[in-house]
Amino acid sequence: MGKIILTGDRPTGKLHLGHYVGSLKRRVELQNSGEYDEIYIMIADAQALTDNADNPEKVRQNIIEVALDYLSAGLDPSKVHIFIQSQVPELCELSFYYMNLVTVARLQRNPTVKSEIKQRNFQASIPVGFFTYPISQAADITLFKATTVPVGDDQLPMIEQAREIVRSFNSIYAPVLVEPQALIPDNKVCSRLPGTDGKAKMSKSLGNCIYLSDDPKEVRTKVMSMYTDPDHIRVEDPGKIEGNCVFTYLDAFCTDEHFAKFLPEYQNLDELKAHYRRGGLGDVKVKKFLYAVLEDILEPIRAKRKELEQDIEGVYRILQEGTEAARKVGRVTLREVKDAMQINYFDDRELIASQAEKYRNGANEQ
Ligand code: TRP
Repeated sequence: MGKIILTGDRPTGKLHLGHYVGSLKRRVELQNSGEYDEIYIMIADAQALTDNADNPEKVRQNIIEVALDYLSAGLDPSKVHIFIQSQVPELCELSFYYMNLVTVARLQRNPTVKSEIKQRNFQASIPVGFFTYPISQAADITLFKATTVPVGDDQLPMIEQAREIVRSFNSIYAPVLVEPQALIPDNKVCSRLPGTDGKAKMSKSLGNCIYLSDDPKEVRTKVMSMYTDPDHIRVEDPGKIEGNCVFTYLDAFCTDEHFAKFLPEYQNLDELKAHYRRGGLGDVKVKKFLYAVLEDILEPIRAKRKELEQDIEGVYRILQEGTEAARKVGRVTLREVKDAMQINYFDDRELIASQAEKYRNGANEQ
């Protein structure tokens, strides 16, 4: 059996540095590792609509933003299939059958759904589509027989739900589906990059993001106003690294080569941290270094984006081709699923023949 990746994002906004260290960078590495037979990256517009039903325009506009971010960060359409969820109707069909394998109580226990319901203040008015999105996500994964699902750790309950559905389906019907494994970032900084304000997570709603598409001036302004150690007032004061956002970002982004290139008086981050702790190192110097590091990463991404922006039609063609490839595989799996469930009446010659036989023999006459 081959190794297959499926993962994706909801198109509700442009992608930021949190996405970059948490998933994009990893995806590009996986793509280039040559270890995977197929890689599917899904723009989850249908899932985004489960809590944006009244704002389809937001989802529609962000599809191209996410696609541009993917391609400019290095996803290569000759190696991965990038596709749009809503354009693969087989996903809906599969979800519909999975719904019979999951109880309401099980969904209510899903920790991700629970916390998202709280976050969104749904209280008693949870849309059914939102409530059941773990089922749809199980369809996303299993339609492609994905073995590996690279996600953030907040998505682990989703993968567990998918695994339960697979086990249940395979034991009731036939062993058609593949149990997926989650692949989570091995580095804590990368799985939860804080916002520039030092808050828990970089997130659009908190307005504390650095976007991949920000221009150098915006990046500079955001870095220079980043949260550091509030007690580090004069340069001579000893400073704290813990909870100091600038150092958290350096942990996530900088390499020894960055020191050689931009701050050669230090060998590595440990030396810089030691100096900051001792005192005598000002925030501005550290921030300028971080800015240089981020620009080193963002500049090529931005340049690639500019190029792609000149050919939006071409980007849509990439999405269309990716979607066609996804559907082709999806149709095969769905056919196997329906065969296993024996809901393939017109193809089932034996069923038709045996029923015909029964009625010819006067089944209705006794
Ligand atoms: N729920 C994921 C997120 O919010 C997006 C997603 C949808 C996904 N379907 C998926 C991720 C399938 C992995 C596999 O980021």
